[in-house]
Amino acid sequence: MLNLKDIHKTYTADGVSSEVLKGVSIDVSEGEFVSIVGKSGSGKSTMMNIMSTLLEPDSGSIFFKGRELTQASSAEINSVRRNDISVIFQAYHLFPYLTAAENVLLPFMQGFAPIGKALREEAFEVLSRVGLSGKENRLPVKLSGGEQQRVAIARALIKKPSVLFADEPTGSLDSKTGNAIIDLLRELNAAGLAVVMVTHSPEYAKAGHTIVSMEDGLVSGIEKNAG
Ligand SMILES: Nc1ncnc2c1ncn2[C@@H]1O[C@H](COP(=O)(O)OP(=O)(O)O)[C@@H](O)[C@H]1O
Ligand SMILES: [Mg+2]
Repeated sequence: MLNLKDIHKTYTADGVSSEVLKGVSIDVSEGEFVSIVGKSGSGKSTMMNIMSTLLEPDSGSIFFKGRELTQASSAEINSVRRNDISVIFQAYHLFPYLTAAENVLLPFMQGFAPIGKALREEAFEVLSRVGLSGKENRLPVKLSGGEQQRVAIARALIKKPSVLFADEPTGSLDSKTGNAIIDLLRELNAAGLAVVMVTHSPEYAKAGHTIVSMEDGLVSGIEKNAG
């Protein structure tokens, strides 16, 4: 479904260039769960941001469902980004003055137009899927860290993406709460959603069908998880 080939990326800051990705190839099949592990600074987030179309590579190719995004028009890339791809991060990036349901509906807000009933019901439905029934009208400050990450996941799900990218989604959580988030990601994956997750934890990485190790801008190993 998603195939990245020989991706290179160099950052230049204050006149100093450093090659952060030195020819990375990663494939994600339909419905697959891929974990990416590696030391801090090895290029995991950069690779993830390129996979999710947030960042353009210097060279290499990206194919999404057979279409070469590295040759596609902005409109085509926008359409993939809008319809097929969702992203969550270590920080939940919720708006503090919007309720859980309003945060989930944020991608659908258009000017001052009120949100329709069907969409509101859908927000409640995805919030119940992530275990937040009854908490739809709470502000983020009234939710725990794990619950805030669940809101971010619900917001990622409402557009029915085919792949969810998660960059250290448990990075701010204690291990019990982190485990529950990993369980939720596994559940969503079992229901058909492809998941690509960066994690520091070898334990969490085992949730993946495939574990890709990165080292100094290169893939140093690909392990298939027998289950
Ligand atoms: N926007 C940027 N400008 C300059 N250097 C960056 C930028 N983003 C990341 N880097 C550097 O690139 C390297 C890889 O970063 P990153 O992809 O975030 O690694 P990881 O997620 O594995 O910790 C690091 O040395 C980091 O400092
Ligand atoms: Mg990172």
